[in-house]
Amino acid sequence: MSLGFLLIFLFSSILSTTNIHACNQADHISLQAFSSLVDCCRWNGITCNQEGRVIHLLLPSKRLKGGMFVSSLQNLTHLTDLNLSHNSLHGALETKFFSSLNCLEMLDLSYNLFSGEIPFSIPPKSIRTIDFGNIFRGFGGCSKLQILRAGHNSLSGSLPEDIYNATKLEELALPLNSLNGAISERIANLTHLTFLDLFINNLSGVIPLNFGKLSKLKFMNLDFNSLRGNLPPSLMNCTNLVELHLGSNYLEGDLTKLNFSKISHLSKLDLSIRLSVNPYLKGQVHPEILSLKSLSFLSLSRVWLTNITGAMKILMRCQSLQTLLISSSFD
Ligand SMILES: *[C@@H]1O[C@H](CO)[C@@H](O)[C@H](O)[C@H]1NC(C)=O
Ligand SMILES: *[C@@H]1O[C@H](CO)[C@@H](O)[C@H](O)[C@H]1NC(C)=O
Ligand SMILES: *[C@@H]1O[C@H](CO)[C@@H](O)[C@H](O)[C@H]1NC(C)=O
Ligand SMILES: *[C@@H]1O[C@H](CO)[C@@H](O)[C@H](O)[C@H]1NC(C)=O
Ligand SMILES: *[C@@H]1O[C@H](CO)[C@@H](O)[C@H](O)[C@H]1NC(C)=O
Ligand SMILES: *[C@@H]1O[C@H](CO)[C@@H](O)[C@H](O)[C@H]1NC(C)=O
Ligand SMILES: *[C@@H]1O[C@H](CO)[C@@H](O)[C@H](O)[C@H]1NC(C)=O
Ligand SMILES: *[C@@H]1O[C@H](CO)[C@@H](O)[C@H](O)[C@H]1NC(C)=O
Repeated sequence: MSLGFLLIFLFSSILSTTNIHACNQADHISLQAFSSLVDCCRWNGITCNQEGRVIHLLLPSKRLKGGMFVSSLQNLTHLTDLNLSHNSLHGALETKFFSSLNCLEMLDLSYNLFSGEIPFSIPPKSIRTIDFGNIFRGFGGCSKLQILRAGHNSLSGSLPEDIYNATKLEELALPLNSLNGAISERIANLTHLTFLDLFINNLSGVIPLNFGKLSKLKFMNLDFNSLRGNLPPSLMNCTNLVELHLGSNYLEGDLTKLNFSKISHLSKLDLSIRLSVNPYLKGQVHPEILSLKSLSFLSLSRVWLTNITGAMKILMRCQSLQTLLISSSFD
């Protein structure tokens, strides 16, 4: 528990009149470092269930500073929603922090100064060891994580394997960090995913070919990484996609072979290439693109396009198009 975190919490904890259940004693002990004077269920930002257990701890934009708060939160075993976004918390995400928080449904740590790796779980043989992996795989059958946001920090390392076991995940947002390594094929197990944002990291490897199994996906942003490989044709099965950002990577293959007409809700499409030294993605603009009636943003910068006249004729008929980026695109 950092003093900075504690003091600022005290100043910002305004009495709330909406929570009527008396705070469970164990939870109050956990939080009494903050203030022992008032029933913690009455603090602003805290919600308790009928047993007086703290279930929501929502403290975004509270100017919280300092390091991790392992000891104070680990006993809040009924916590489902934890939002500490837009503060100045720093340090590594200690594995212990998540030791008992295995009922988390929402975790938002974005816009802080966290660093270090997202902890991996310990191999199954040490099953008694409790770790960050628990919130993904559900120690005790309680894998409920639906929202994980930890963007705009300085997290490094690769995506922990356990993320792919969090099959209830609907939103995974880790943009603007320094994550590296590949995205596993196992991402296709996250069939409830609607929002995937890994914008500006250092992810490498090929784009998993089975992304198309994520049929609920509406938003995907992998812009500004170092991903290679073909644009997976299976993506055309993600018929709910509204935004697809794969720009500033090293996409390969033939644009002509892609038929976008099934992802008809698409509004933003970024297939730009990071460097134009090699012909990565190439081909022609296909008239099928006209079936994207909502397309308002299209970037094909540094894609090696042939037949500029044909492309312009087609694109001029894209009625919703507002932004077209095709710099250095034509041979
Ligand atoms: C958490 O629970 C453990 C075991 O019951 C206890 O030893 C510890 O003091 C508690 N920590 C806090 C901050 O309440
Ligand atoms: C956390 O709080 C911020 C600020 O109120 C809000 O914008 C954000 O959506 C919240 N996160 C989640 C996952 O609800
Ligand atoms: C994750 O799921 C795979 C099966 O897809 C399983 O083999 C593995 O043990 C699980 N990992 C954990 C940490 O539960
Ligand atoms: C997860 O995906 C891998 C590879 O795509 C697959 O072998 C495995 O069976 C899947 N696990 C689950 C639980 O769906
Ligand atoms: C990105 O990852 C590569 C290895 O894939 C590494 O050589 C490079 O230093 C990393 N860049 C940054 C900015 O972390
Ligand atoms: C799209 O989905 C259909 C039905 O699930 C499947 O038969 C087809 O192979 C998929 N297409 C691609 C390119 O993965
Ligand atoms: C693209 O797909 C649509 C249906 O999804 C089909 O009608 C059309 O013929 C396809 N175009 C090409 C060039 O394959
Ligand atoms: C150029 O594109 C137009 C429109 O798609 C097409 O009609 C024409 O055949 C193309 N020309 C060549 C040389 O591919």
